[in-house]
Amino acid sequence: MKTIIEPFRIKSVEPITMTTQTQREQFLVQANYNLFSLKSDDVIIDLLTDSGTSAMSSRQWAGMQMGDESYAGSPSFYRFEAAVKELAPFKHIIPTHQGRAAEKILFSIIGGAGKIIPNNTHFDTTRANIEANQTQAIDLVTSEGLDPQLVLPFKGDMDLVRLRELLQSRCDDIPIVMLTITNNSGGGQPVSMANIRAVKALCKEFDKPLFLDACRFAENAYFIKLREAGYRDKTPKEIVQEIFSYADGMTMSGKKDALVNMGGWLALNDDDLAMKARNVLILTEGFVTYGGLSGRDLEAMAIGLEEVVEQDYLHYRITSTAYLGNALNKLGIPIVKPVGGHAVYIDARAMLPHIDPLHYPGQALAIEMYRIGGIRACEIGTVMFGLQPDGTEQAAAMDLVRLAIPRRVYTQSHMDYCIECLAEVYANKHSLKGVNIDWQPPALRHFTAKFSLR
Ligand code: F0G
Repeated sequence: MKTIIEPFRIKSVEPITMTTQTQREQFLVQANYNLFSLKSDDVIIDLLTDSGTSAMSSRQWAGMQMGDESYAGSPSFYRFEAAVKELAPFKHIIPTHQGRAAEKILFSIIGGAGKIIPNNTHFDTTRANIEANQTQAIDLVTSEGLDPQLVLPFKGDMDLVRLRELLQSRCDDIPIVMLTITNNSGGGQPVSMANIRAVKALCKEFDKPLFLDACRFAENAYFIKLREAGYRDKTPKEIVQEIFSYADGMTMSGKKDALVNMGGWLALNDDDLAMKARNVLILTEGFVTYGGLSGRDLEAMAIGLEEVVEQDYLHYRITSTAYLGNALNKLGIPIVKPVGGHAVYIDARAMLPHIDPLHYPGQALAIEMYRIGGIRACEIGTVMFGLQPDGTEQAAAMDLVRLAIPRRVYTQSHMDYCIECLAEVYANKHSLKGVNIDWQPPALRHFTAKFSLR
């Protein structure tokens, strides 16, 4: 069967406010052409992020009623802890309100001036939390992972040669090695089990712990099942368990593959680090059995972790993201290949070669998608990365627009609508002009900058 059947029925609906192009043109002016400044009620299909935007199941909503809000020792914590350990049997499970809180705690205890943390590609909050502790964040993804057009099964893999060189030359300065699964900043590309195993072997050789930034661990596991020899007959859960068996710790945003709207955790085996992490947790997040979350949030995560490794769910998730990407590819729209797990990334620089990178082709494309179809996506390019610390501008390595797909939220007809809208944008691409930045803050400008059309 070619039709992707969503493996759920809809019990509770959330109306979408339909808008006209004329209305959206007004909303764009009011938002200074910054899509982060739009009211989400004015968006028809919101593909800004897959983070915290999942639909919860009826089981999760029912589980929330079981949430126990005791300050200390809540049964909800123990259910959450058991659910994490079922997949990732680390000794210490420390809840946090989201992924970056786990990162902040971890790097505040292992970072410091002169230290280095390698990763395939650090996500922005990970990098920022590392750098906030005067530590250097280094990306060592394979060179193939940086070529948007190359079709390879595991473009999230770590470059083992460069990792070995770094471990040899700077061994004393490296507190941990990280791997981000899937590699969000590199197009949502997965990391192979062979690469995880090889990175672990290098870590063992140099006596370094391996930590996973595991936000999208289940999607990564499903790619291993589909693409790596020897895994076809294993269940997603067995593959997830094998992945975590190679790690000494993890940071996690539950807002992705725990299928919840808020939550995360830090997990690790080292007793001394865990003690230090819990001390920071109590200062900044809350007591060790709730870490900035309600008991009901912990219940929802515990159930989400069971649901996310279900075969039917993962099949639907990965094939429906590919459905959108493959349709855009067929239209001739350049996308990052192969399609990743959680998002389709359009190569705006390749699609709009007449727009100079310093006139922000990604932003121009994202604005047009909203104007034509009320679709909100996210520029990941020169607007996000082009401003240098000395205030000058430089084109980013790529100008991408990310269409991130919320989990269990949109149906195939919503995706067909997006495809139709993008076909229209593509047909008129020569009419698109770049944008100017009229105002910007000194850092993280993409969230609040004001733009105008050229
Ligand atoms: N690591 C990765 C790989 C992520 O994608 C994110 C968040 C985080 C860490 C931080 O987690 O948001 O719970 O604090 N990514 C979101 C996104 C924001 O849109 O890609 P958080």
